[in-house]
Amino acid sequence: MSEHLIRITVLDRKGQAHALEAPTDLGLNLMELCKSYGLPIKGTCGGMALCASCHIYVMSNHALPKPSDDELAMLDSAFFVQPNSRLGCQIRLRDELDGLQVQLAPESE
Ligand code: FES
Repeated sequence: MSEHLIRITVLDRKGQAHALEAPTDLGLNLMELCKSYGLPIKGTCGGMALCASCHIYVMSNHALPKPSDDELAMLDSAFFVQPNSRLGCQIRLRDELDGLQVQLAPESE
């Protein structure tokens, strides 16, 4: 079981770091993981790339899969977008992401 756990660090909107342990064998995404830890990420659309309430910034140099057209379109209409912006719900937890660091983007409203 332990080989299917990775560590992800999430900075909240106050800059406080949270060390999360993430299972990689359950098909979860980063938005769902953050929610399960009680971090303030809404995930309003349930992971459909339709709301951008799971907007995060990728702070480490991990090679993530390229965003889909749906993700890019959603980020296009999101606020506070930076070159390292991604939608957390589109980042599937995989072993390669061990040590990933992300930051929660500011809320748009
Ligand atoms: Fe809605 Fe990610 S949860 S876009």
